[in-house]
Amino acid sequence: MDTAPDIVRVPDLIDPFGRAITYLRVSVTDRCDFRCVYCMSEHMTFLPKQDLLTLEELDRLCSAFVARGVRKLRITGGEPLVRKNILWLFRSLSRHLERGTLDELTLTTNGSQLAKYAADLKACGVDRINVSMDTLDPVKFKAITRWGDLGQVLLGLEAAEAAGLKVKINAVALKGVNEHEIDDLIRFAHDRGADLTLIETMPLGDIEGDRTDQYLPLSIVRARLLERWTMEDIPYRTGGPARYVRINETGGRLGFITPMTHNFCESCNRVRLTCTGTLYMCLGQDDAADLRGPLRASPDDGLLMEAIEAAIARKPKGHDFIIDRTTSKPAVSRHMSVTGG
Ligand code: GTP
Ligand code: 5AD
Ligand code: SF4
Repeated sequence: MDTAPDIVRVPDLIDPFGRAITYLRVSVTDRCDFRCVYCMSEHMTFLPKQDLLTLEELDRLCSAFVARGVRKLRITGGEPLVRKNILWLFRSLSRHLERGTLDELTLTTNGSQLAKYAADLKACGVDRINVSMDTLDPVKFKAITRWGDLGQVLLGLEAAEAAGLKVKINAVALKGVNEHEIDDLIRFAHDRGADLTLIETMPLGDIEGDRTDQYLPLSIVRARLLERWTMEDIPYRTGGPARYVRINETGGRLGFITPMTHNFCESCNRVRLTCTGTLYMCLGQDDAADLRGPLRASPDDGLLMEAIEAAIARKPKGHDFIIDRTTSKPAVSRHMSVTGG
């Protein structure tokens, strides 16, 4: 195997607040085969396919970030596994794992296509994946995802386990929807050796309905859980924003992602690339940098590196999300499926 580096390492990316950017999340498509109520409206207009970067271009962009010190790549969407020929990208990016210039290559998926892809992903060096699953009730699952089939996702989870992939289950906490199911989700995840992470819903993009109806602060969930479970804060970190506890009764890990009640921006280490080559320096802000122009302007990466540096130099301090009845507009107009979570 070729082990010679094809990239020259230059100093790492540090933002104006002294945060090192070591985590790149890449949305490879804005399309999805689900229509989760908190994420999309039922009738979405997606980007024309010709606007997407090719997989080769995505590979070049990711590799430029790896050359600048990014150690963790997460492929997201929309649903990343609906992008045609996506395994090519995983296979190609796995060279950075083999060379030791990347610590983790992973993805966040809705699980619908996992039965088909789990073994191949493992073969590409993917070790740990995040699967979104907000409920164990097939009827509620259909209601939340509009188009999803819980049975298919469960088969996907089995395939992931059979392939030796470690799994984290992500559940968005939704008032009146899954708030009384959290115990079941904990048991379900921990029985199969998976971590579970709860997420607060964020005001991203217009959806039908009022987000105030969905928003459930995790501070409330945590207080309720403490009535039934013994939880101990643990220092376990994945590079993402979750803060973890160990549940003594199950021995498993439970993470809390709290963009609303507890801002974690001071330790932010990540930026997000969309499938059209736009770099968002913050999930909760509109400012963005175009990397497609510099990428296509020249076959060498000089212009691209300059554009990346200029973008990181503008990374904002953080987000300020608000969900209440007086704030009718979302904090940012783009949906999560554009920026990839
Ligand atoms: P690991 O820690 O590696 O498991 O990944 P992660 O938690 O970073 O990734 P995942 O895709 O599971 O992210 C879960 C959710 O956390 C995302 O979809 C977002 O809802 C939220 N999240 C991740 N990063 C950020 C961030 O920088 N800001 C905000 N506000 N939310 C984030
Ligand atoms: N707020 C919080 N989480 C969201 N997700 C999608 N939209 C939102 C939102 N508005 C979650 C999905 C998935 C991850 C990629 O982002 O459930 O777990
Ligand atoms: Fe970082 Fe922005 Fe996320 Fe805050 S909202 S943690 S600054 S990406």
